[in-house]
Amino acid sequence: MKTNWIILFVSFISLSCATYRNNKSSNQEYKHGAVVTAHPIASQVGVDILKKGGNAIDAAIAVKFALAVVYPNAGNLGGGGFMVYRSQSGELSSLDFREKAPAAATRDMYLDTDGNPIIELSLRGQLASGVPGTAAGMDAAFKKYGSLPWTDLLQPAIDLAAKGFPITAQQAKEFNELQEDFKKLNPNGAAIIRENIWRKGDLFKQEELAQTLKRIAEKGRDGFYKGETADLIVAEMQRGNGLITHQDLENYQAVWRNPIVGYYKGHKVISMPPPSSGGVALLALLQSVEKYPLREWGFQSDSTVRVMVEAERRVYADRATHLGDPDFYRVPVAQLTDSLFNQKRMSKVSLKKATPSDEVKASKFLGYESEETTHFSIVDKNGNAVSLTTTINDSYGSYVWVDGAGFLLNNEMDDFSVKPGTPNLYGLLGGKANAIEPGKRMLSAMTPTIIEKDGKLKMVVGTPGGSTIITSVFQTILNILEFDMTAQESVSAPRFHHQWKPDRIDVEAKAIDPHIRKSLEKDGYSIRQRGNMGRVENIVVLPNGKLQAGADHRGDDTAKGY
Ligand code: DON
Repeated sequence: MKTNWIILFVSFISLSCATYRNNKSSNQEYKHGAVVTAHPIASQVGVDILKKGGNAIDAAIAVKFALAVVYPNAGNLGGGGFMVYRSQSGELSSLDFREKAPAAATRDMYLDTDGNPIIELSLRGQLASGVPGTAAGMDAAFKKYGSLPWTDLLQPAIDLAAKGFPITAQQAKEFNELQEDFKKLNPNGAAIIRENIWRKGDLFKQEELAQTLKRIAEKGRDGFYKGETADLIVAEMQRGNGLITHQDLENYQAVWRNPIVGYYKGHKVISMPPPSSGGVALLALLQSVEKYPLREWGFQSDSTVRVMVEAERRVYADRATHLGDPDFYRVPVAQLTDSLFNQKRMSKVSLKKATPSDEVKASKFLGYESEETTHFSIVDKNGNAVSLTTTINDSYGSYVWVDGAGFLLNNEMDDFSVKPGTPNLYGLLGGKANAIEPGKRMLSAMTPTIIEKDGKLKMVVGTPGGSTIITSVFQTILNILEFDMTAQESVSAPRFHHQWKPDRIDVEAKAIDPHIRKSLEKDGYSIRQRGNMGRVENIVVLPNGKLQAGADHRGDDTAKGY
């Protein structure tokens, strides 16, 4: 009887492993270039540009605009994002096209007269939007690295918007579920409400969006921040209680920043600096676990989970206090990404008992210096690599569709700390570092990342997922570097997440085997099962130079290449 149970248990473990560690043939491998995005059509647009002789940045720009059409929940003209770039010769850069608070924004703008947050205000409607950064970001990326004509990069998106594209089953379901909300907020504006019932394969046409994209094709950033598009955005603001003015739009600039660079066991990790917390937190997490024998312990073994969770708890506590827009707040980047500091902090961690989050406070530094988002990864035939994450924050952002211009506006203002101690949409806390100020960028968790080994490109990775972005990228990197997974396995593997507060481990359905879960619970860990976490897109360069691509099957995500 006992043997039967053991056999059953072993087959359960191997079955659940098999769901992601399965047929290697599902790994896509390409010789020249690879594009992994959240939508099959956007991936195809990227590959077409690469085949035409475009470089990774050309493909990224074309994909970005195509996603604004075929993936309206996140793909955006009305939001922003971050891009990390590594050229074939190892030149590194990162581009910040994150939204900014309008000039008229104030610290307490989402509080009522008693000082209590009015949550709805930072999430829905015109007041929730920051000044969009996408058009300026793509314009800046093109001016620095673009090689094909700008109009060629916009044309696929214009055609998709004007002629329509067949929606996926998942999109049909979402569009149908959101009809009522959109009708309330956008009685005329939302393209989604033109059909009462959507079915897989129906053509989704967005004529107004096609016109907006044409203006950007003709005039570059001015096609968005000035003239007709700007007039339409400002008119939309005035229909509600929005703050964005013509001046805010004209003043918006994307910023090139020095990426966060650090090491994990000889691998160079290149990621996004503040105003994203992603790069700083990712590096701190990797440094925190570096000295532990994770490979020996194994993927999601009892000790592996404990060490990763205790690292996450501490790193997210620091995130809440120390991270914000570096143009407004002195973020202690050097201290937070100091390997000795992170290792020392872990030296007090017990592997026998959970540390309650209430006992973990943000570090003190003296005199220091200074659900919905989408990610795509691209490598071109010369080995130039782009890792880009972009968002309007929540799925479908503020739900405000700019009437006449055909795109959704972000609700990114909710990523600010609306009031110290009040969690945002993702349960994240913040304080002074991330308080609202005019012209300031709200803190992000987006973590577009590139990894290099021995001077060569090794991996291009990133994901959406709000607060879980950092831990999903962290796990995917460990899946490759410690647990020898393929690119597809690394993104399919079930994930878990801890963010200091609330003090619990969130797990996907198949993450953490039941007996390990029991042992963790016995030692004071609280565990909650939730839905999918993130949608990671990963390209790994194999020793033979081939590009192995993993697209996250939690969505319609697709890898393509040639
Ligand atoms: O910038 C951030 O961290 C968030 N606005 C990202 C939101 C997100 O990933 C939602 N996706 N599921």
